[in-house]
Amino acid sequence: MLNSQDPHIEYSLKNKVFTLKIDRPDKKNALLPHMYRSLAAGLSLADSMEDAAVILITGVDNCFTSGNDVNGFIAATDSKESSDDQPSKMLMHALNETQKPIVAAISGMAIGIGTTLLMHCDLIYASEDCFLQLPFTRLGLCPEAGSSSLLPKQIGHQRAAELLLLGDRVSAEKAYEYGLVNKVLPQPDYLNYARQKASELAALPSKSVQTSKRLLKQTTITETRAVIDKELIEFAALLETPEAQEIVKSFINRSASGKSG
Ligand code: COA
Repeated sequence: MLNSQDPHIEYSLKNKVFTLKIDRPDKKNALLPHMYRSLAAGLSLADSMEDAAVILITGVDNCFTSGNDVNGFIAATDSKESSDDQPSKMLMHALNETQKPIVAAISGMAIGIGTTLLMHCDLIYASEDCFLQLPFTRLGLCPEAGSSSLLPKQIGHQRAAELLLLGDRVSAEKAYEYGLVNKVLPQPDYLNYARQKASELAALPSKSVQTSKRLLKQTTITETRAVIDKELIEFAALLETPEAQEIVKSFINRSASGKSG
């Protein structure tokens, strides 16, 4: 019996598909440090299990994730640690280094790490209502999870700059046009479709699939690890600026005051 021991991250295994479900709907699936740890541990567990061939990451209906819990951006937080056991860094490295294919099924919103983690996934299926967003500059921050290097490689410099510098929301349709997701589906269908593709992948010879994935990533994996670490240093420095702190506090105060601000 699989148990993540995390109330907000669910592990399950069915037909060789190991599913990681983010489940904190009251906070739009915002990620807390223990959730990063559980996601990283789930990836590593799935990679080590013989009866798991494919990993599926999903959220709840109408919400993949709103990204890092912004309360963690206030002074003296996890994000300022620089050691290798910083939870967000553990997840980023795990995503980059996971050997088994990762399928993502997203709906609602994929903000911040919700979008940057997709750059490490192999197949991505989105519901038509979904939007992606990399709001780092709007928060006074910078790209993370290797996105400063992976995104321009995936979609070209100008499009990456549009997403990473302007930080606008990107509709599922536009994400498809940019090549960021494989297929856009009606809300009732996106998860079943992703599960079906994950099962198809899981039915193929595992060694062949994993070797193919390793070859696809052979020129980027080491470089991406270094980029992740470098980005986190810049991110932590920006997080300490009064500008970033003010933006984060205004979001938190808006929530605390019933979103009237
Ligand atoms: N961190 C912490 N709490 C978050 C959150 C986040 N990233 N995203 C949403 N929440 C919380 C809200 O504070 C609110 O909590 P409350 O009910 O206790 O007040 C609850 O989730 C619902 O969010 P709300 O803002 O009311 O929903 P919405 O549909 O109006 O807007 C978002 C949803 C995601 C667009 C908006 O909450 C948002 O912009 N969140 C911040 C996203 C972000 O900047 N992430 C960091 C990326 S690096």
